[in-house]
Amino acid sequence: MISEKMQQAFLEQINKELFSEYLYLSMKAYFANLNLAGFVNWMDVQVQEEHAHAMGMFDYVIQRNGKIELFEIEKPQNNWNSPLDVFKAVLAHEEYVTSRINALLDVAESEKDRAAIIFLNWYLKEQVEEEANVGGVLAQLELIGDDKNALLALDKELAQRTYVAPVIG
Ligand code: FEO
Repeated sequence: MISEKMQQAFLEQINKELFSEYLYLSMKAYFANLNLAGFVNWMDVQVQEEHAHAMGMFDYVIQRNGKIELFEIEKPQNNWNSPLDVFKAVLAHEEYVTSRINALLDVAESEKDRAAIIFLNWYLKEQVEEEANVGGVLAQLELIGDDKNALLALDKELAQRTYVAPVIG
């Protein structure tokens, strides 16, 4: 059984993960309008990962005999000034998500919920990977500056990213 407080923290985080999916879907549309197919692909993988993150928590709450309640999803930003601007926003968002996972771990520790701690450790490790991955693309975009050929080369590289369904927990 899951405590009320722990359940509430998970329900709020499911909402944040679904918002993340929404945000990256919005960014995918932005890149589609720029005809940058590799960036579109990168965002599409991101969208699928966020959906998996939300569903992982959704399934976990049910598994612990909790009760799911879905909240309203915030409207995401719909426009950015440049690909660099987008990736700055992605990194800031992932850093925010990391702080949220840490906050969930604080609740799990205060509730002495060891199963939740083990479960959430997967998300924390995932955040380390996410931040490094996003930071890598951001660093390349900073180097690229206004060089359109270099941007197209990066677009080709990002087209290679493939979605692998995560094994959560
Ligand atoms: Fe679900 Fe990108 O963290």
